[in-house]
Amino acid sequence: MVQKQFKARIKHNRRTGKDLYIMDLQTPDGIFVSKPGQFISVLIPNKTLRRPLSIMSHTGDSLQLLYKVRGEGTKYLSELTEGDTVDFTGPFGNSFELKTRNLLIGAGVGIAPVYYLKSAGTGVNEGVNNSETRLIAGFKTKDEIPADLLPSIDFISTDDGSYGKQGSIVDYAKSYIEEFKPDNICICGPVIVMKLISQIALEKNIDCQVSMERMMGCSIGACRGCVIKINDNGTIKNAAVCKEGTVFDARKVFYGGHEHA
Ligand SMILES: Cc1cc2nc3c(=O)[nH]c(=O)nc-3n(C[C@H](O)[C@H](O)[C@H](O)COP(=O)(O)OP(=O)(O)OC[C@H]3O[C@@H](n4cnc5c(N)ncnc54)[C@H](O)[C@@H]3O)c2cc1C
Ligand code: FES
Repeated sequence: MVQKQFKARIKHNRRTGKDLYIMDLQTPDGIFVSKPGQFISVLIPNKTLRRPLSIMSHTGDSLQLLYKVRGEGTKYLSELTEGDTVDFTGPFGNSFELKTRNLLIGAGVGIAPVYYLKSAGTGVNEGVNNSETRLIAGFKTKDEIPADLLPSIDFISTDDGSYGKQGSIVDYAKSYIEEFKPDNICICGPVIVMKLISQIALEKNIDCQVSMERMMGCSIGACRGCVIKINDNGTIKNAAVCKEGTVFDARKVFYGGHEHA
């Protein structure tokens, strides 16, 4: 897949939760091609580093991003309006894979790539008979739930109980796994969420893919700024998250020195 630089027109840029926005971009039809799990890098005026954002959906010439305002770059994006243009490069990284019974888990803005995976599911999963894909998600509070995505989410928990079940999505993942019996789990969210859920998955011998997040520079594997150590069939090696990830088999990932083996 060839990465390119694009100038895309903003069709909508709307608030969908507290400090949370969905940006709908018009890309040149057929030229920008992406897969669920990939990200783009957005140019912010007067900033050296582009800001990486996961693709939340992409059909035809319509590309959607879900972003939380964190600092100057995302604040700048939140102030853009219909008709403005955004300069981005991409798509970068590898993608999630679907199998037969897929449990997709998103936490916070980590919902974006797994939502894309669920919505693209029929195409990605072509040829797999009797496949089923469910999406469950956890948020701190109701205000942080992207309202537009609610119809696609099969189960929600919030830390404060303001929407759905009260507690961390980690608390519910185990019983959801026991009930749904997935053969594949795909997770994107804070490291601790991915670590704890992938532990449950691997104890039960269920394939699990996690999307790692690192500070990104070049996004093409050249600057080595995003390198992590992975266990590749017993060999410890360096992997650039932007190129060999962001999606990794959970068995290969170390979390603060602790490996899932
Ligand atoms: C692969 C990937 C996908 C992401 N997808 C999303 C998404 O879909 N939605 C979303 O809201 N956020 C996403 N993020 C996080 C997003 O990139 C940061 O929130 C954003 O860059 C913050 O920029 P800022 O200028 O607003 O804030 P700043 O004040 O500049 O930074 C705030 C924090 O954002 C992070 N950050 C800043 N620049 C970068 C960079 N170049 N690379 C990585 N992290 C950076 C750092 O942790 C920093 O501490 C993703 C990050 C990565 C690595
Ligand atoms: S960001 Fe440069 S190697 Fe990954």
